[in-house]
Amino acid sequence: MNALLRATGMHRAYGPTPALRGVDLEVGEGEIVAVTGPSGCGKSTLLHCLAGILRPDSGEVRYRGEDLTLWTEAARSRLRRTEFGVLFQFGQLVPELTAAENVALPLLLAGATRRAARRSATLWLGRFGVGELADELPGAMSGGQQQRCAVARALVTEPQVLFADEPTGALDVLTGEQVLTEIVYVARERGMSVLLVTHEAQIAAYADREIVLRDGVVDASGLGIGASA
Ligand SMILES: Nc1ncnc2c1ncn2[C@@H]1O[C@H](COP(=O)(O)OP(=O)(O)OP(=O)(O)O)[C@@H](O)[C@H]1O
Ligand SMILES: [Mg+2]
Repeated sequence: MNALLRATGMHRAYGPTPALRGVDLEVGEGEIVAVTGPSGCGKSTLLHCLAGILRPDSGEVRYRGEDLTLWTEAARSRLRRTEFGVLFQFGQLVPELTAAENVALPLLLAGATRRAARRSATLWLGRFGVGELADELPGAMSGGQQQRCAVARALVTEPQVLFADEPTGALDVLTGEQVLTEIVYVARERGMSVLLVTHEAQIAAYADREIVLRDGVVDASGLGIGASA
């Protein structure tokens, strides 16, 4: 499988705290890769570096062969509005906008008409079981409902790569499984790649491949969270 996204030798620290200490990783076209590991091992930092939100201190992140670490912030943010979809671990929705407005926003930024954006937003909210909340503000929704809206918003632009940081963290097991099943369905249907960050073994099981991070490096033993010691 051709690597759509390839990171090599990624290092990233926050002041004196190293978060990534030389990570190499590949994601193929249409491949679903889970990144697991204990709290604080660097999963979110890795996702942010791969999605071009954070710049690694050293190392390369190549997307379709081009090194994103050399791109301007404007070029990387354009990529996130078009080919990348990002689901953050915390703080997803714009509180002043309704669910439908939140989901429509990436399309409006990409130049869609209000009518077309609204139509797609409604469709994607429905796919994730929160269609009836289209006109609600995030403050009036449960954490899990907000998370499902955020999934809809990350997918509404039909990205080539979805970066999902604990996408089911606020959901009960059954709803989490439904959301994951739908994300996998979208990935298979469109050949979308997914980088799935999770600390839950049953979530990682949805992926084609699992990468285990420990203290900012890939654990070469490859023993995932589902493995018995
Ligand atoms: N903004 C920040 N400022 C300083 N240190 C940070 C910051 N963000 C993360 N860190 C540190 O970097 C390391 C990796 O953090 P990161 O958030 O990437 O871990 P994680 O694997 O996503 O954890 P969790 O499973 O709890 O979400 C940790 O030691 C953390 O304390
Ligand atoms: Mg995290």
